[in-house]
Amino acid sequence: MQYSARRPGFRYSFASVYEALMPLVEKAGLAKRRQELLSQVSGRVLEIGAGTGFNLSHYPEDVQLVVVEPNPEMLVILRSKAAGRNIEIIEGSVEDLSSSGIAPKSFDFVVSTFVLCSVPDPDEALRTVSAMLAPGGKFVFLEHVVTPGVYELVQNLATPLWKRVAGGCHLNRDLLGSLDNSQMVVTTLFRFNFPLGRPLIPHGIMGTARLKSDFFA
Ligand SMILES: C[S@@+](CC[C@H](N)C(=O)[O-])C[C@H]1O[C@@H](n2cnc3c(N)ncnc32)[C@H](O)[C@@H]1O
Repeated sequence: MQYSARRPGFRYSFASVYEALMPLVEKAGLAKRRQELLSQVSGRVLEIGAGTGFNLSHYPEDVQLVVVEPNPEMLVILRSKAAGRNIEIIEGSVEDLSSSGIAPKSFDFVVSTFVLCSVPDPDEALRTVSAMLAPGGKFVFLEHVVTPGVYELVQNLATPLWKRVAGGCHLNRDLLGSLDNSQMVVTTLFRFNFPLGRPLIPHGIMGTARLKSDFFA
């Protein structure tokens, strides 16, 4: 189905607002981060919470891409962007992947961009990510996180309203803490100023994590 911003029912959804506003942020620098993150992936790749598909144009052509997305309105736009490409789209949540028939330990890369802020439980999502990674595989992420200090105060105050209008997004999650507690270890980490993000989303993180079992028997 071809997506059109004018289709009735889409005008005020989170998906249509996201699709309309994000190009400003992409042009202001986020697209460059996506490109840096995704130019390194290869082989069999799982993207969780693919949204409206802002990452699709940044993948190397020869990856075997599987994407999962639960939001039906996001899915309409995602399917439209993926049309004609060899991309497997799974409708559902990351937490459901283990029971979806997708083989665990079968992905060379798992990708998450601005998803762990929105999942109901980041620790559970990271357990699934770990379960999906093949030995030697990499979890590559681009996320926004809590910024300690005055910004944290703003993020704590704004999150209850923000998550209602922004698809469940929490501004104040300590995702590096969640990664520390996961079955993975962060192997590269880069912090950046989030384009047009102040004061709610001042900083982002970009990095790579690998299974602890790759290092410790
Ligand atoms: C802020 S959007 C980011 C979309 C996209 N990853 C991007 O970089 O533009 C957050 C996405 O996470 C998805 N999401 C929320 N909860 C999820 C879950 N439990 N499992 C998978 N995706 C989820 C939402 O539907 C939405 O598409």
